[in-house]
Amino acid sequence: KVLVLDYGSQYNQLITRRIREMGVFSELKSSKMTLDEIKAYQPKAIILSGGPKSVYDEDAFTINPEIFKLGIPVLGVCYGMQLMAQDLGGKVEANPGNGEFGQTEITQSENSSALFADTPQQQIVLMSHSDNVTKLPDNFVVAAGSQKTPIAAIANDADRLYGVQFHSETTLSEYGKQILKNFVINIAGAQANWTMDGFIDEQIAKIRAQVGDRKVLLGLSGGVDSSVVGVLLHRAIGDQLTSIFVDHGLLRKNEAQQVMEMLGGKFGLNIVKVDAQERFLGKLAGVTDPEQKRKIIGNEFIQVFNDEATKLNGIDFLAQGTLYTDVIESGTDTAQTIKSHHNVGGLPEDMQFQLIEPLNTLFKDEVRELGEKLGMPHEMVWRQPFPGPGLGIRIMGDITEDKLKIVRDSDWILRDEIAKAGLEGDVWQYFTILTNVRSVGVMGDYRTYDHTVAIRAITSVDGMTADFARLPWELLQKISSRIVNEVDHVNRIVYDITAKPPATVEWE
Ligand code: XMP
Repeated sequence: KVLVLDYGSQYNQLITRRIREMGVFSELKSSKMTLDEIKAYQPKAIILSGGPKSVYDEDAFTINPEIFKLGIPVLGVCYGMQLMAQDLGGKVEANPGNGEFGQTEITQSENSSALFADTPQQQIVLMSHSDNVTKLPDNFVVAAGSQKTPIAAIANDADRLYGVQFHSETTLSEYGKQILKNFVINIAGAQANWTMDGFIDEQIAKIRAQVGDRKVLLGLSGGVDSSVVGVLLHRAIGDQLTSIFVDHGLLRKNEAQQVMEMLGGKFGLNIVKVDAQERFLGKLAGVTDPEQKRKIIGNEFIQVFNDEATKLNGIDFLAQGTLYTDVIESGTDTAQTIKSHHNVGGLPEDMQFQLIEPLNTLFKDEVRELGEKLGMPHEMVWRQPFPGPGLGIRIMGDITEDKLKIVRDSDWILRDEIAKAGLEGDVWQYFTILTNVRSVGVMGDYRTYDHTVAIRAITSVDGMTADFARLPWELLQKISSRIVNEVDHVNRIVYDITAKPPATVEWE
């Protein structure tokens, strides 16, 4: 496995993903990992990620230089290269110009390094830096340079230490994938044997060992993640798994019924359905603050589990569909908390269960692949994501039954039209939002003063960044006219044309 130490770059997860795509397991970990922890992890190779700071800043993230003496190959990317250079006797200074940003041509030196094997002398890479390595560390050579950055890649083939100033992990670096492969497979000798089948076997063995003959409770939300966890756990421990499906009243139209039919019916999971609509809506009455809504929904969810678990007797574990992105977004040392994600942020401190989170090292697309490998239908696994707090964060302001009906019915029409247009696979996520804005309209001969519904449709790979989908005008026109005609108390439709960043996918 390959250890990626996180220095806070926006591309840090991409490094991990690229390596997994080669069939080698890789994880992103805090840069504060100690030398002993790193040794215990036994990585085949270590990659130091990029980051926003300068290595000469007083509060710069550092590394124990002993790491370079472990005999484990190390590749520094951007900030990581600068850290390596500074610690091994080189020098890093601010670029005299305005730095170097965007796609840039680099040229390899004569006999540059094994790092650049099978890549051309001249190639385009993505640069994004304001500091440069200005003096080589001891025993290193310059492997490549650009016009503005003479030292754009450094290599010490004997000690297997490398640095690249550019972002080899993005597709904007033409041969970035090859360079990472040269490092991980050819130089570090990692075996490309991490496959989804292997992952399933490993997880099943791990779950069985952890659970023994005890019982597990799963919170089924109806979304892809918890459904996949349910099917995986069911395969591992059969009826020792009890799933609780909480209908919190914040689900989409007909969703509850579909979940019961598919997971309970076809896959044979033992599901207890709890109708908790009133309980949730009672707690949420009058609450308008987004973070407070999320906290209430998250806490209430766990409370319902506690209540059910007490009834069920002898439950020791709580399984959750937490993803790797949830773990990272909820705050490593270097990444800021953007939203408290329901799966992680809502847990009360006196929680009585041990957690089982078999997906917490997987990215979303890996979870979908896992679901298909487990025999789940394509449509179910490739279904768009749905947030834990449900429609609660798609109604701006306080939540009422009437508003829920508007969101549900408009969302139903949107989904229907996207499906009819054959665009389900092209648009990553799409839903409607009740904006809590009313405006004046005219219907027939009457003045109306009614709700504005927003449509959000995005393209994305993993939800971390997104762009708004370029839906055809005719389709938008049809959706707009259907919603206004078929859903009471809506007289205006707007289309959200913001990317993430600066917006987020959900409105709250
Ligand atoms: P944001 O709004 O953070 O959304 O840009 C990114 C993706 O995450 C989903 N999302 C959530 N999923 N619990 C979840 O399980 C949550 O609290 C949550 N909040 C947002 C969102 O739908 C999008 O796909």
